[in-house]
Amino acid sequence: MASEVVDLRSDTVTKPTDAMRQAMAEAEVGDDVLGDDPTVAELERRTAEILGQDAALFMPSGTMANQVAIRCHTQPGDEMLADANAHIYWYEAGGSAALSGVICRLLPGERGVFSAADVRAALRPADIHFPPTRLLAVENTHNRGGGTIWPLAQLRDVCGVAREAGVRTHLDGARLWNASVAAGIPEAEYARDFDSVSVCFSKGLGAPVGSALAGSMELVARARRFRKQFGGGMRQAGIIAAGALYALAHHRERLADDHTNAKRLARGLSGVPGIQVNRDRIETNMVYFDLEHGSATSLVEHLREAGVLVLQTGERTIRAVTSLAVDAPGITRAIDAVREGMGAPPQ
Ligand SMILES: Cc1ncc(COP(=O)(O)O)c(C=O)c1O
Repeated sequence: MASEVVDLRSDTVTKPTDAMRQAMAEAEVGDDVLGDDPTVAELERRTAEILGQDAALFMPSGTMANQVAIRCHTQPGDEMLADANAHIYWYEAGGSAALSGVICRLLPGERGVFSAADVRAALRPADIHFPPTRLLAVENTHNRGGGTIWPLAQLRDVCGVAREAGVRTHLDGARLWNASVAAGIPEAEYARDFDSVSVCFSKGLGAPVGSALAGSMELVARARRFRKQFGGGMRQAGIIAAGALYALAHHRERLADDHTNAKRLARGLSGVPGIQVNRDRIETNMVYFDLEHGSATSLVEHLREAGVLVLQTGERTIRAVTSLAVDAPGITRAIDAVREGMGAPPQ
């Protein structure tokens, strides 16, 4: 492999910068399970403020933040509505069933975005035969949808339908920061209509570890108990919270660079014969592209040997995600490596 790897597998591959490590090394810490860690407290305060929520709770991962939210909102035997490609459904190891006893009903979203009518059609009438519809989960940006941003009006509509029906709402905002920067809409606007919101510091923001769950005081108090029950109470967690605080202060605005890089990557790939990519669909930092023929496996292997790492997500589909870990020359290298792998002349 080439010495400098261009890692486009995910925005979770980012490593803390020197300045972030410095902030972490200098963090004041205490036992957070006993409520003693000032850095965690500051991160929770700042996160709640940005999200326009009453309170927030630091979590080891986005998966735990989502699963604790589900546990807070539901009882075993309840039903949760989610998009058919939701992270909560696909990639959280069946947590909603295993940890909360909740059944998922899947909505037919368009790249992760469904309509108020879809929600209305899925609501169960009160009947002892049916699992009660208790929770609606929305993902913004949408990972499997291709980094899709929810239109704010549509978000408000689906939350409105849920509220009228007495269904609680959770926002999986692992990449809400990306949506906010790309659309120019504050995170708090997106979060406003939800009963709970999860966010991640360990993705595009570049912190090594950590997520948060935000909501009302009551929700967060309940979540604190379930976080402990799920094994997520952490002791001197200020060390990692300091990385997240640094990321909030210094790495939010720069997400725009990742979006520019994703668009340039898509533009470059769209010029490679045999590759299909819909450039109009690149809204944030994710680029999904398809091979017109054959399997993606050999191209992924060719790229790996050229020092460019991507993820195969289907027989012919490859995902490339831009982040702090990849600069503009890295994007050029990735485009050149795909051209070479597809037998196209260099440009
Ligand atoms: C949309 C979404 N939600 C939740 C998660 C879970 O985050 P974690 O990997 O920290 O558990 C991810 C991870 O990629 C994600 O993409």
